[in-house]
Amino acid sequence: MSPRKIIIDTDPGQDDAVAILLALASPEEIELLGLTTVAGNVPLPLTARNARIVCELAGRTDIPVFAGCERPLKRPLVTAEHVHGKTGLDGPDLPEPTMPLAPGHAVDFIIDTLRTQPEGEVTLCPLGPLTNIATALLRAPDIAEKLREIVLMGGAYFEVGNITPAAEFNIYVDPEAAEIVFGSGVPITVVPLDVTHKALVTKPRNDAFRALGTPVGTAVAEMTDFFERFDREKYGSDGAPLHDPCVPARLIRPNLFTGRHINVEIETKSELTRGMTVADWWRVTDRAPNAIFLGDIDADGFFTLLTERLARL
Ligand code: RIB
Ligand code: CA
Repeated sequence: MSPRKIIIDTDPGQDDAVAILLALASPEEIELLGLTTVAGNVPLPLTARNARIVCELAGRTDIPVFAGCERPLKRPLVTAEHVHGKTGLDGPDLPEPTMPLAPGHAVDFIIDTLRTQPEGEVTLCPLGPLTNIATALLRAPDIAEKLREIVLMGGAYFEVGNITPAAEFNIYVDPEAAEIVFGSGVPITVVPLDVTHKALVTKPRNDAFRALGTPVGTAVAEMTDFFERFDREKYGSDGAPLHDPCVPARLIRPNLFTGRHINVEIETKSELTRGMTVADWWRVTDRAPNAIFLGDIDADGFFTLLTERLARL
């Protein structure tokens, strides 16, 4: 089977970085057409910097990195330096990027790619707020039918929120963008906190990254050491949830995950529940299903896959 053509839309973020590395380490299953960066964990100049740092860490300066939207559609930007550090990629001491940003705006790259690639062959993999994706859909509604799928990290249902009691960070930052994406009619697979909070980087798992003895393995272990300090304190868990790498893992080994095709709506009106993904998990409404909402993961299988693939870089 030929590899899946994808664009990763990202706000690195240490977990975004690991997701990008997993995608780059998996050419049998994934052809990464480019990285589009968005403001999220940290402001856009830093996410655009961090994405290039990751490409250079992987020796892949051939991957075009585009800067995208610097703030949500309608709201002020909310960032997460408290989790990811001031740079967004705190932990390892990695050199400043030397590769340039690709010319042009990320949204134009998304639109142009979808208009030039064969219909139904490109998958978008958003790992941050959905601002770039929504802007592309608003500016070029024709791309909706050209998309194969959107596989995104975001949302929560049984696991409730991580930035407010009701909302997960990516959806919370730009709920209007999420509303547009979930209402687009594009096939969507959601990787929510319900899944990623079961993908905990325990010490043995992080030791396995470090034991690779490679610059990538060491950097990943140091990234995890950094951002788990926050999550361990917050959740009392024995490791930090590794959110974003679950997205490429879903493309590489879908059977690691289970979920349901249900209706998911986005709260945009109430400040109390802004950004909540209202997932009709028990199908108690007659609202049409619009997403595969994942609910479970084989965590051991995920970390075995991730470690094996990182060893290739
Ligand atoms: O809530 C977790 C998500 O928000 C992850 O994508 C993390 O990188 C941040 O963007
Ligand atoms: Ca992210």
